[in-house]
Amino acid sequence: MKYGLPLGIIGLAYSVVLFGAQKTFGWELSYEEYHAAHLTEAINLDEDSDKNPKNLLLPFNRTRIPGSEGSRETQQFIIEHFNKTLAGQWAVETQPFKENGYYFNNLIMTLQNNATEHLVLAAHYDTKIAPTGMVGAIDSAASCAALLYTAQFLTHIASHERTLEFDKLASVPVVTGSTLGVKIVFFDGEEAIEEWGPEDSIYGARHLAAQWLADGTMTRIRMLLLMDLLGSGEEEPMVPSYYSETHQEYQLLNRIEDDLLFRRGDGSIAESQLAAQVARQRKRLDPTDYRFLGLGHSVVGDDHTPFLAAGVPVLHAIPLPFPSTWHTVEDDFRHLDATETRHWALLVCEFVVQSLRSRTE
Ligand SMILES: *[C@@H]1O[C@H](CO)[C@@H](O)[C@H](O)[C@H]1NC(C)=O
Ligand SMILES: *[C@@H]1O[C@H](CO)[C@@H](O)[C@H](O)[C@H]1NC(C)=O
Ligand SMILES: *[C@@H]1O[C@H](CO)[C@@H](O)[C@H](O)[C@H]1NC(C)=O
Ligand SMILES: [Zn+2]
Repeated sequence: MKYGLPLGIIGLAYSVVLFGAQKTFGWELSYEEYHAAHLTEAINLDEDSDKNPKNLLLPFNRTRIPGSEGSRETQQFIIEHFNKTLAGQWAVETQPFKENGYYFNNLIMTLQNNATEHLVLAAHYDTKIAPTGMVGAIDSAASCAALLYTAQFLTHIASHERTLEFDKLASVPVVTGSTLGVKIVFFDGEEAIEEWGPEDSIYGARHLAAQWLADGTMTRIRMLLLMDLLGSGEEEPMVPSYYSETHQEYQLLNRIEDDLLFRRGDGSIAESQLAAQVARQRKRLDPTDYRFLGLGHSVVGDDHTPFLAAGVPVLHAIPLPFPSTWHTVEDDFRHLDATETRHWALLVCEFVVQSLRSRTE
């Protein structure tokens, strides 16, 4: 492809419907072109962009304490994204429950394809009660927005695969034709109410894991990609590989990042339509960092824990050390970086596409 990016390897042929009647022929629109057209407005921190209904990040600029109005309205926003904006191509499930005097609600979205197993992408949408007013920008507004964008991107591919005659293209339907499916989970109650401990944390994750163990879903989860504390504007934090079971998938994510940041057709970055959107050109992944592989235990407690205990391979996308704004009132949208958040959205989109493509017949 022109920009040498794997995002563009499989171009999708487009019918005239999408881009207007002046085009009288179908033509190739790469994934890269989709991102170039949609990513910036979806993940944007500019002051006036909150008026844009396509902005997926700014609705999270508020507290989302379990059971609160902020939480309920955030849930509504997420559900409507899947149910209305994405035209019902996802099955929407909710898992409301009460524990420790609080009402919680997990949101579980399942892409409707012919899946026998699922890749699960997840982040938590709740915010910590203290310090008062903390909106959890990295914790985990940015990750949630990246997942909403990923869903939008996958829906877009799926709807076109359904309307196109693929036998006329030398191309496999990646999303609708895969036996791997996608579930996107928005966990409630990741944060402790009082003090972090086994009984006071990851409320949503514990409840969903219990349900999936009981109904057999757990055995059909191929991997959990858990995103947390992403989107910081700080220079330092890298995201290491935590588990040898998923180091291969980590390496895939790393190759995708390399391609995104460095590999351009003629070596130039400025030529890419995506360059402006991930302008910082900063690596977040380092597959040569083996510090945590082979430890046999987790160094970071998070929503993945009960799934890991149930034998699900986990890829934990969380920086270490944590960004300095973590669990302070400074974890606000001023300390968030839109290009960093887009960077993660792109990595996850391409990771999912490559994972699904590896399981097409
Ligand atoms: C986030 O919300 C705060 C408080 O309402 C506001 O001052 C700030 O401008 C918002 N940030 C963005 C990027 O909209
Ligand atoms: C989503 O939309 C479907 C179809 O309209 C409806 O049956 C379902 O209840 C909705 N789900 C939620 C959680 O609103
Ligand atoms: C499942 O596969 C069949 C045959 O390829 C296709 O017609 C159908 O649309 C697929 N289902 C979904 C939900 O994509
Ligand atoms: Zn937190």
